[in-house]
Amino acid sequence: MTHINETARQILRKNDRGGYTVPTDGLYPYQWNWDSVFAAWGFATFDNDRAWTEVETLFSGQWDDGMVPHIIFHQSDPGYFPGPDVWGTNKTPQTSGISQPPVAATLVRKIYEMDPETGRTRLAALYPRMVAWHRWWHEVRCAPGPACITHPWESGRDNCPDWDVGMANVDGSNVGPYQRRDTGHVDASMRPGKEDYDRYIAILQFGKACGWNHAEIMANGPFLMADPGITFILLRAHRDLIALGQELGEDVSEITGWADALEAAVPSIWNPDLGAYDARDIRTGTWANNLSSAAYLFLYAGIENPQMDAQMQRTWDAVTYGIPSSDPEATHFDPRRYWRGPMWPVVNSLIAVGLKDSSRDADEARLRRETATLIKKSGFYEYFDPVDGTPCGGSNFTWTAAIWLTWAGRD
Ligand code: DGY
Repeated sequence: MTHINETARQILRKNDRGGYTVPTDGLYPYQWNWDSVFAAWGFATFDNDRAWTEVETLFSGQWDDGMVPHIIFHQSDPGYFPGPDVWGTNKTPQTSGISQPPVAATLVRKIYEMDPETGRTRLAALYPRMVAWHRWWHEVRCAPGPACITHPWESGRDNCPDWDVGMANVDGSNVGPYQRRDTGHVDASMRPGKEDYDRYIAILQFGKACGWNHAEIMANGPFLMADPGITFILLRAHRDLIALGQELGEDVSEITGWADALEAAVPSIWNPDLGAYDARDIRTGTWANNLSSAAYLFLYAGIENPQMDAQMQRTWDAVTYGIPSSDPEATHFDPRRYWRGPMWPVVNSLIAVGLKDSSRDADEARLRRETATLIKKSGFYEYFDPVDGTPCGGSNFTWTAAIWLTWAGRD
């Protein structure tokens, strides 16, 4: 184990660009929001100071309205598309125009608890920034009730079948010529297809055309869906932010109100026909009818639901390695195509937090073992085929190394 631990630490160090960590060299050459917070969690196992720096650098890209963008473009890199000019947000530092799953408060709490002495002043400075971000989520993206996304990239689960019904209504035919860069780095069969990509760009162009006006995007943008993943991640994060606020002696009543409102909205993402939490198109009311691994974050959010327990066991038992990103028994299951089936160690690590906190110790141990088996066999890949274990996507991946250090590699 020792040398695997050292390899994981080396990946974090090699992907360190000075104050922030890229998800992987080449494919993702900037600071990505939730990737970066996982990197911080990994750093905290051997360098707590560096962990805080990672999160501080991320929040240096926070907008005045509180949003923390999904990419911070600290330096230009022609190997990535769509870069800062395509987004056109006119911010310093340059950023994208959407957000990403708010895991920060939850993982910052873990980092803080690993070394409260080092963390206290850093936490005190970061706390109001995290509150501002959560307020943005509550006021802007949770206006319909559950947490909503305005672009599939905002969910962090880009081409998951969760978004198919919303994407079907996006016109991607007029986006003009552009050149993808992702498929120059990894196998195209493991990435989103061209039709998806045209639509991603069309949604981006709408945001740019309206000057990234959130009210306009929420009211008239081409894509708006409730996301079970962010709903559960934000609910959990609100509670962790409350705990951090109490630790600092702050008045947390406003955050408690946001958490209560979000919890009250959870039944609105229950699809009775699917018998599961599900993504939903806000404009049309249409359900995604897809069981994704995001739905299994219900325990992470502190929610008990026996039907979800049964669904999780079924999809887990249908594959060999971990919990797949999309239902292996559904017709659209695609075991190597990004979020349409592969097993993502990073999401499994969050599911494991929920399993552990709800005292499902045997399940947590099984998930850890299956995740560790894949990494030990093939290395720190972005994601894996859950049926035969084939490693997929980028290699030497930051968040896979991070969750090894914090979770999968721990006996
Ligand atoms: C990409 O470029 O594929 C990213 O997932 C967008 O954030």
